[in-house]
Formats: sequence, structure tokens, C-alpha cells
Amino acid sequence: MSIYLDNAATSFPKPEAVYIAAERALRETGANPGRGGHQPALAAARLIFESREAVARLFDIGDAARIAFTASATEALNTALFGVLRPGDRVVTSSMEHNAVTRPLRALQERGVEVVKVAADGRGLLDPEALRRACRAAPTRLVVLSHCSNVTGSRQPIEEIAPWCRREGILFLLDAAQSAGLMPIHPEALGIDLLAAPGHKGLLAPPGTGFLYVRPGLELTPLIYGGTGGNSQSELPPEEMPERLEAGTQNTPGLAGLKAAAELLLQHGLAAIQARESALLARLLSGLEQLPGVELYGSRDPRSHGGALSFNLDGRDPSEVGYLLDHQHGIFCRTGLHCAPDAHRTIGTFPRGTVRVSPGFFTTVEEIDLFLAAVAEVAAHPLS
Ligand code: ALA
Repeated sequence: MSIYLDNAATSFPKPEAVYIAAERALRETGANPGRGGHQPALAAARLIFESREAVARLFDIGDAARIAFTASATEALNTALFGVLRPGDRVVTSSMEHNAVTRPLRALQERGVEVVKVAADGRGLLDPEALRRACRAAPTRLVVLSHCSNVTGSRQPIEEIAPWCRREGILFLLDAAQSAGLMPIHPEALGIDLLAAPGHKGLLAPPGTGFLYVRPGLELTPLIYGGTGGNSQSELPPEEMPERLEAGTQNTPGLAGLKAAAELLLQHGLAAIQARESALLARLLSGLEQLPGVELYGSRDPRSHGGALSFNLDGRDPSEVGYLLDHQHGIFCRTGLHCAPDAHRTIGTFPRGTVRVSPGFFTTVEEIDLFLAAVAEVAAHPLS
């Protein structure tokens, strides 16, 4: 028996419909979408069009053409950050970001962008007023925040931040790596200018998929230049979205999987998925709270939580705990810094890190209970 609890890294398994759609695309829709006017190329382009439409429906986005597909949330974030920020610009972010934000910002800092990090509290939650103060201190071009921390799951109050940024004329970029597919997100209604999401986590699609939503009227400098299938006589990238940000051959099988996954999520409803996963998280939180020697991090309130949860056992190395869960109990969690060192500095777990458990779409109550029993066992029997 094995229990996969590392859905914050990537969701597994995928829905059956996703496997079928990806295989079918590879076998039957294998021509290059948008390149050439022959029937198989048109069929591949249609599939990608439908995938984009399904994602737009899931996120309540009026014009699907504002969604550029990317290979990952990391690529989407890089496209947004390098596409917007110029030397002399100022960007405000938090101390809970993943390296997918921290590292491009560091590279931009070295090119003359001012980067301001607002500290979250010990639970990983950001005070919106502290963020507003940081923005007011000097003209600010962009705010970039992770919606839910990949370490603690802490969910930032973006409902209080995004509309304020819109009123102040500050662009707002949301890193939805740990929230897309786990809860409803409506970028247009909320005033989110840019939204970056992976396909392979909560959206249940294959790896190698992701997207960047860019609000109408905002045009980015592309990150990648190359063929787009049209206007080939020009050395300049196209003006139109999504082609402007989508140079190179698209990942048709991955995007076929994303279409199938988005349709399935639409059928279930994101609010229902959120309610189900919050109940699992509540069970996990209260179970861990009752175990002696468990130190829990982040918010205890499932309402200010995404899917990930971090803990440590008193005096024990997280990698030892993860090893025992894996090798003695067949339970798969991620341990260490989770590519988010600033988040660990914020919650006081740097450089040791934590054991991170992240249930997903297919996780059951029984699996949560088996996990809790396994943690109790590991707590009682250290590796000698
Ligand atoms: N960003 C992913 C994680 O947190 C890979 O595990």
C-alpha cells in the first residue's frame, strides 16, 4: 500500500480522463498546431483552442485569448516579471515567496529593479496594511504574491489587496501555484492583472503545462522569441495575444490533458473541491495537534489555508521523518526547504526545513487517518 501526499509538488494520480486525452492527442492529433493549413494541423490547433476555452471558463475569464500557455508556473511568472519590470521600477512582494518569484526578482534587482519584501507573520500570513504601507512609501509598479504558501499553505488576503492595487494603479501579479484548481479564483472580478498557474498541480493536468493570464489592455514584452505560425515575414513578435507570448511548438498532449482536467474540475465545481479538501485539512490539523511532540506551522484555520501543511517532530530531522514515512509506511511527503527559503526564515524553520504534507483531489479520509497513525509511530520510534 502507498499513500501519495505530495500534491503541492505535483498532483498524482491524474484523473483517468487526463491519461486518455493526453495519449489520444499524441496518437491522433500529432501535427503541429498553428503551423500549416492541413487538416491534422487544424485539428491540433482546435484542441489547443478548446483547452484555452476550458481554462477561461474555470477562471471566469471573458476572453480566452488573454491566456498564454506556458510550460510551468515558473515560466509564467518569469514571463510576467521580465515582461513588465524595467530598471528603475519598484516591486513589492512578501517573505513567503517560492524561488519561482524570488530568483527572477533577484535577477531583476541586479538589473536595477528595486525589490521590497514585506515580512509575513510567524504563521506566514501577510498584513494587508503592511503591504499597502510598503507600496505607499514610493511609486510602485507591481505587487507579486503567492496566493497560498507552498510551505505552510497560508492563504494571503488577496481580496483586500488586489482591488486596492487596481485603485492605486499598481499592477498585481498572483502566483496561484498552490491554489489554482483548489479553490475558485476570478482574476477579472478581483482586479488581478496577471495570474500565473501550473497545470500539473491542483489543475490535475500533465507536467509541462501552465499558463499566464494577462488582463486586456496590458501588453508584455515577450520572454521567448521565435516562430508563432503567423506573420512569418516579420522579425518582430506578433502584437496579439496569446501568440505574442507563445513562441515555439505547443505541448499538444499536455494541453489536451489540461482540457480534460479543466472540464472535470468544472463538473465538480471548485467550491465543492475546496470544501472537500478543507475538511481533509481540518482532520489533518486536529489529528496532528493531538500528537505529542508535533510542532505545526502556519495558520490553524482551514479557511486561511491552501493544500499544504508543514510540521516537525521535536528534535528530529525532517528528512529522517520523511524517510521513515516513506520506507516504513509507504507514505510520500516532501521534506526540507521546498524551494522557499524565505518562507522558512519567516516561520522560524530555516535551515532545517519541515515535513510537508499536501493532500489532493484523490486523497481520502482513510488515508489521512493512516498518515496520522504513521506519524504517531514515527514519533515513538526514531531511527536509531
Ligand atoms: N513548487 C513545488 C513544491 O513546492 C515543486 O514542491
